Amino acid sequence: MSLILGIESSCDETAAALVTADRRILAHRVAGQESAHRPFGGVVPEIAARAHVEILPSLIEEVLAEANIPLGQVDAIAATAGPGLIGGVMVGLMTAKGLSLSANKPLVAVNHLEGHALSPMLTDPDLAFPYLLLLVSGGHCQLLFVEGVGRYRRLATTIDDAAGEAFDKSAKLLGLGFPGGPAVEKTAQEGDSRAVPLPRPLVGTAEPHFSFAGLKSAVLRARESGRYTVPDIAASFQKAVVDCLIDRTKRALMHAAGATALVVAGGVAANQAVRGALQQLAASHDLPFVAPPLWLCTDNAAMIAWAGALRFEAGLVDDLDVAARARWPLDPHAEKARGAGVKA
Ligand code: KG4
Ligand code: ZN
Repeated sequence: MSLILGIESSCDETAAALVTADRRILAHRVAGQESAHRPFGGVVPEIAARAHVEILPSLIEEVLAEANIPLGQVDAIAATAGPGLIGGVMVGLMTAKGLSLSANKPLVAVNHLEGHALSPMLTDPDLAFPYLLLLVSGGHCQLLFVEGVGRYRRLATTIDDAAGEAFDKSAKLLGLGFPGGPAVEKTAQEGDSRAVPLPRPLVGTAEPHFSFAGLKSAVLRARESGRYTVPDIAASFQKAVVDCLIDRTKRALMHAAGATALVVAGGVAANQAVRGALQQLAASHDLPFVAPPLWLCTDNAAMIAWAGALRFEAGLVDDLDVAARARWPLDPHAEKARGAGVKA
């Protein structure tokens, strides 16, 4: 059974993992860089890239040592080749290329979004293609019809901010610090989600696209009005995001005939309110609901090794001249969402 070393370095998490094609996670490590970025209130690309350079080699040694497996016994080396912060992506991909060349092992260039998209299958052997996936992270907010490895139909995307970005920016506006998602979720527990009237952008529109920029501005206005407590704004904001995600996913289900399950992945999938609401939506459509365990939702290398394992088994390996990509859509045929800003 093939054994894959996975490397992730596309944002502010440095990670390495050893995963087999029969779903055994032999070792996995994630090194966060929160304290390095916290003074700036967000991820600084140059600091992230330098930190990856410093941390990654020892992290790889640690997972190999923990699993007691020499590099020579690995069948392939998989690394995130994009999309993401280009400096960090290059660190991980170049490291993988060096290991691939020195150990004479095939290289698998993994799309970070494919890592998230296939991650639910790593821990749920019953999940089968095709499924409807809500991919909600710091950089992306998409609805994808997942037909197979390398086969994704994008049904919707955000026309401005991603859901995780909205959490992070709102947290900053509310003085809740960085990273924002978990901080907003915690603070929301002490608030009333009906206290602050906030918009639900694009809810009810025919195409299931997302928009969160207006919601973030409304959070700023609510804060500046001085009329609401921070927990009430956090709770109302989180409820507004959940309402948007549910309405849009419900709409996408109309275009997802044959889906075997409703699946969520990406950092925002760690949010309990999001998980709970999606679970209900799935139940109302008689569909199983699948969400990875929390550690597998946020960035990690187990999902990259797993996507690498599925690609490797399908014969999808890459040449050593494969390029790092800042942008890399999962569905190359997806049209630009009407009214969309710069996000792909
Ligand atoms: O998937 P991920 O680790 O990185 C990207 O590929 O972007 O997602 C990170 C995002 C951040 O925006 C973070 O604030 C958000 O996921 N996030 C959450 C929670 N945990 C992480 N958002 C809401 N609630 C959470 N518990
Ligand atoms: Zn991610």
